[in-house]
Amino acid sequence: MSTHADLLETLRGIVGAANVLTEGDLSAWEMDWRKRERGKALAVVRPGNTDEVAQVVKACAAAKVSMVPQGGNTGMVVGSTPDATGEQVVLSLTRMNKIRTMDGGNLTVTVEAGCILQTLQEACEEAGYLFPLSLAAEGSCTIGGNLGTNAGGTQVVRFGNTRELCLGLEVVTAQGEVWNGLTGLRKDNTGYDLRHLFIGSEGTLGVITAAVMKLYPLPAAQLTALCAVPSLDAAVELLGLAHKTLSSGLTGFEVMGQFALSLVVKHFPQQRVPFHETSPYCVVLEHSDNVSESRAREQLERLLEAALEQGCATDAVVAENITQARALWHIRESIPLAQAQEGLNIKHDISIAVSRIPAFVQETDAALAQAFPGARLVNYGHLGDGNLHYNVQAPADTDAEAFLRDQEKPINALVYAAVDRYNGSISAEHGIGSLKRDKLAEHKSPVALALMRDIKKALDPHNLMNPGRVVNL
Ligand code: FAD
Ligand code: MLT
Ligand code: ZN
Repeated sequence: MSTHADLLETLRGIVGAANVLTEGDLSAWEMDWRKRERGKALAVVRPGNTDEVAQVVKACAAAKVSMVPQGGNTGMVVGSTPDATGEQVVLSLTRMNKIRTMDGGNLTVTVEAGCILQTLQEACEEAGYLFPLSLAAEGSCTIGGNLGTNAGGTQVVRFGNTRELCLGLEVVTAQGEVWNGLTGLRKDNTGYDLRHLFIGSEGTLGVITAAVMKLYPLPAAQLTALCAVPSLDAAVELLGLAHKTLSSGLTGFEVMGQFALSLVVKHFPQQRVPFHETSPYCVVLEHSDNVSESRAREQLERLLEAALEQGCATDAVVAENITQARALWHIRESIPLAQAQEGLNIKHDISIAVSRIPAFVQETDAALAQAFPGARLVNYGHLGDGNLHYNVQAPADTDAEAFLRDQEKPINALVYAAVDRYNGSISAEHGIGSLKRDKLAEHKSPVALALMRDIKKALDPHNLMNPGRVVNL
């Protein structure tokens, strides 16, 4: 019997034959969400508890077979799918989906890695709490994937990234040991904070099996407005005004460029998209208040009146009820789906100091238009966090695959050189995966890269956890 056959037999013994998938259509696990790459897995293995994860990792390590941790497989940077060798095990956490405990007194929830984000949000809401992480993939992404990528989303302006929401982790190390760090402590200075090594490590250091996450009280009111803004400068001015007027009540501030909105109108014609024909940018703004709906409305109206008076907004609608609020958010959340419908595209998930974003966009728009005539710029994102999705779609009616093949490298070079000049980041929230690994090597300082490699070698000396992602050894 070959080594791989032995390993598969051992894995069947650990998780049950039904949870070691080798036959049939495995594309849901082997192909990334953006359909950039299709890999081939030796097997998709679906453990049901932490002990099984530990045994699987030990068995794979003994057979020197590398593993790719996977949650909902909604990642944007080709980080959760196997390579093309047919020799990697996909370690799917989706069966580990329990909410273990909720501690109202400590405002924490302990949840397994494979729990779908939306399931967690809904369970917390039912118990009277807010779990504020929110992103358009929430119906299929998992807490383990959110932690693995340190996902951002649409509430970062108030609650921070996934990292800021996590108080403890349970991790299976690359050696198959279980580290139980599920303390739920808000203060703990007992040496290096291991939790922060694993968060954002994209499955390259170990397998997150459970986490303690922070909860917040449900707000008394949550109001959503859509504002037409005449320019990005105006959007930044509106953001400043919103911070000043609403303070910590500002829970969302998303910008959408006119072309991004036109893609939503084109591909989802049933959606009503106010202002998209007349305004170069729109902003979705969310205000939450812990006191009352009437107070929240009064504060939001005060903000919008000031914005209209100052000219940083030219028009605005405020959702009257939850259905209308959802419809406004739905416009924003539909942009990546509309982009995918329009065809293969080049994503730049960048962050820059908020104050410098208008100048960056003006300069880079002009440079791209000159160097790549016809390329269509899809600009939207989390302006409240200084995080833009500054994407490029192939010229209309051209072969997108050929465009990406020929132009992706020079377009990336142009955009990332500008990001460097503005002292920004080439990956604000999506991570590195394999898609941006070589770019990371070009844009991160040699000292930082060497430290990252040292950490990888210390925690995963045989390079078995998601090898080739984030850093190359
Ligand atoms: P996967 O895609 O399965 O994995 C992502 C990475 O995490 C991989 O490197 C994988 O190896 C690792 N990983 C997964 N599970 C574990 C684990 N248990 N232990 C260790 N490592 C693990 N991202 C944002 O940040 N903000 C957004 O607003 C946002 N919006 C999105 C909208 C859409 C429509 C889509 C499709 C994606 C969006 N994303 C966004 C990207 C993606 O949803 C997030 O990165 C999400 O956190 C990935 O979760 P997942 O469970 O799908 O992880
Ligand atoms: C978003 O904010 O919509 C996401 O990060 C997804 C994307 O950039 O495509
Ligand atoms: Zn985003």
